[in-house]
Amino acid sequence: MATAERIALVTGANKGIGFEVARQLTSKGFRVFIGARDEKAGRAAAKKIGAAATFLKIDVSHQRSIQEAAKKLARVVDHLDVLVNNAGIIVDGDDAILKATPGQFEETMRTNALGPLMMAEAFQPLLAKASAPRIVNVSSSGGQLHDGADGWSPIYCISKTALNGVTSQLAAALPKFAVNSVCPGWVRTDMGGSGAPRSVAQGAEGIVWLAADAPQNLTGKFLQDRKIIPW
Ligand SMILES: NC(=O)c1ccc[n+]([C@@H]2O[C@H](COP(=O)([O-])OP(=O)(O)OC[C@H]3O[C@@H](n4cnc5c(N)ncnc54)[C@H](OP(=O)(O)O)[C@@H]3O)[C@@H](O)[C@H]2O)c1
Repeated sequence: MATAERIALVTGANKGIGFEVARQLTSKGFRVFIGARDEKAGRAAAKKIGAAATFLKIDVSHQRSIQEAAKKLARVVDHLDVLVNNAGIIVDGDDAILKATPGQFEETMRTNALGPLMMAEAFQPLLAKASAPRIVNVSSSGGQLHDGADGWSPIYCISKTALNGVTSQLAAALPKFAVNSVCPGWVRTDMGGSGAPRSVAQGAEGIVWLAADAPQNLTGKFLQDRKIIPW
């Protein structure tokens, strides 16, 4: 059964927004698993955060890697309160929808949309052992359909639209869980670039709120800065 210790797993937590989400969750008392595909970077990130952080090797684009990580985690903890599906990519040359290649499309969808779904499938049994399980899918306003596209990174945007579909479906399938998509805003990271207006701390804030403090009955939504935004 669920214990008092709150446990979170964050993918892509070796740098950027994921690292900051992991760091903020540990400062809220969580034990956090640093999901990373690069062992050296993942271990270094865990060390930097401190004793409450533990590296867990996960490449979200490979189902076997995800399944191995789920097995490994189930050997060391008896439940998982929060899964933050943060890992994401924009592939080189993703700048024109009519020039998108199958390789670019498949790699992006595999990492940004299929990965979070495979993560939810694999970790759902451990999450179900928590008293108030949560899945936070880190999406992007670039995936919103309501106001039309502007042509920026089209494959990435489509993958975030698909991720939002994954969120909606998981929320319906997992009524005991809170499952939401969240946009961190435009954040200064390797992905966001140095000209972005938000710090990683500002980008992480809404994600951490959904992971740790939002009402459990808030589910199946897309949010930014703690507010529901259109799909
Ligand atoms: N920055 C922004 O302005 C912004 C805006 C909206 C949404 N987001 C979203 O926020 C999330 C984090 O972005 P960020 O800005 O922090 O980007 P980032 O600095 O580029 O970090 C991305 C993280 O994802 C990891 N990753 C990529 N592919 C992976 C895979 N197959 N398996 C495991 N980890 C993988 C990376 O690991 P490696 O170090 O091994 O590559 C890295 O840890 C993403 O989902 C992104 O789409 C960002």
